[in-house]
Amino acid sequence: MSSNPSGPLSEARDVKRPVGIAIIGFGGLIGRRHTAHVLSNASAILVAVVDGAPGASELAAQLAPGVPYYRSVSEMLSASTANTPPPEAAIVCTPNAYHVSVALELADAGVHLLVEKPLADTKAAARTLVDRAREKGVKLLVGHHRRFNPYVVAARKVLTASAEKPDAVVGPGVGSVVAISGLWTAYKPDPYFAAAPWRRSRRQGGGPVMINFVHEVDILQYFLGPIVRVSAEKMTGRVGVGGGHADAVEDGAALTLRFASGAVGNFILSDGVVSPHFFEAGTGENPMLPRARRPRHDDLEESNEGTVEREGQHGEPVDVYRIFGTHGTLSVPDMTLWTCGDKPRSWENALEVRRVKSDNDPRAPFDRQLDHFIAVVRGEVPIEDGPGCTGEEGLGVVAVCEAVIEALDDTEGGRVIVDTT
Ligand SMILES: NC(=O)c1ccc[n+]([C@@H]2O[C@H](COP(=O)([O-])OP(=O)(O)OC[C@H]3O[C@@H](n4cnc5c(N)ncnc54)[C@H](O)[C@@H]3O)[C@@H](O)[C@H]2O)c1
Repeated sequence: MSSNPSGPLSEARDVKRPVGIAIIGFGGLIGRRHTAHVLSNASAILVAVVDGAPGASELAAQLAPGVPYYRSVSEMLSASTANTPPPEAAIVCTPNAYHVSVALELADAGVHLLVEKPLADTKAAARTLVDRAREKGVKLLVGHHRRFNPYVVAARKVLTASAEKPDAVVGPGVGSVVAISGLWTAYKPDPYFAAAPWRRSRRQGGGPVMINFVHEVDILQYFLGPIVRVSAEKMTGRVGVGGGHADAVEDGAALTLRFASGAVGNFILSDGVVSPHFFEAGTGENPMLPRARRPRHDDLEESNEGTVEREGQHGEPVDVYRIFGTHGTLSVPDMTLWTCGDKPRSWENALEVRRVKSDNDPRAPFDRQLDHFIAVVRGEVPIEDGPGCTGEEGLGVVAVCEAVIEALDDTEGGRVIVDTT
């Protein structure tokens, strides 16, 4: 396959022309979402959908009528001719273990890439892809879309302002960040695993560390810089998920984190507990998962079933991260900031509490991530200026997750240094 004439050369072209995008693995859970977002984006054209699953051709006709359908990336690339070159860009939505093989084939053809998180199932595979993309002049972003979430945007603004003025007694910030505490605790029902058995296979990149905690690691590092050491205690799992055969994944963990900045963190991760404390429920950003709200005390009333929230009330968001600084504490996504205001810092002073305004762009984080990918492909925004997650940053996330898995597998409660080389 010759190199894509419309790929790495795209900066030289008319920057306002819509970018042709293919979706690889379009028929899966996340592939369908990306397909819908590309179809509704005025700056993109959906030029191909690829998926080898039985029934994918019929699904393509239903979800993307008129868009060319292929069973594999090889089939799509072989169909390209001088008049119909390969797509300028692609979004890779295959299971974790196939990200790199698929992305390498596309990179070799000069196709710019947005690879779903995690970038790869192993650090070694991630390194191969990052190096190949650089060599081929292909732009590589990773689908850590939460960076575009309004609460994450607002929290990062607070942390950036805090880092600039860590000693400000009154101000927008928390001072120097000392510690962070996080939760991703939810219950994934059996059909979630039955629909895609790779989700509970260690060898295929499944499990809550590689599927869910990857998001957390990206956000934690986006907020506080690199994590350099982890330790982990594995949770006793649900029968058939956590325990048993060698390929079985963890279903949860208690984690301790050390950041290069000197900050420390802890995190409880589980996909086997019923809880509202997970990012999607806290923010309401995933249309497939309902938002959780904590009832206000005054809105509770007695009923036959016990104490319930009065009808018509909507409660408060639940928190998933608490970020502790020398001058204040911020919880996210309820965006509550506790400080001593203009009083001296002391536990004897009543704390001043403020609600930090979140950025009110009504567009979904997936749409904003797609806009950014398009701008990067067109050369309108330098990839390293963010906010998208670059290949190198995505590799750093995989390195942390790999260290977590290594620590989890150590029955003595392992402690592992993160190695990003
Ligand atoms: N950003 C997010 O919030 C988010 C949410 C869910 C999943 N994901 C990520 O998206 C990816 C897919 O997850 P999912 O839950 O949608 O998986 P899924 O199993 O539902 O879908 C994967 C699809 O890829 C297809 N596929 C497999 N190998 C292929 C290949 N070589 N070429 C073309 N198609 C292929 C499968 O047939 C399937 O339709 C994973 O990496 C996952 O971590 C991201």
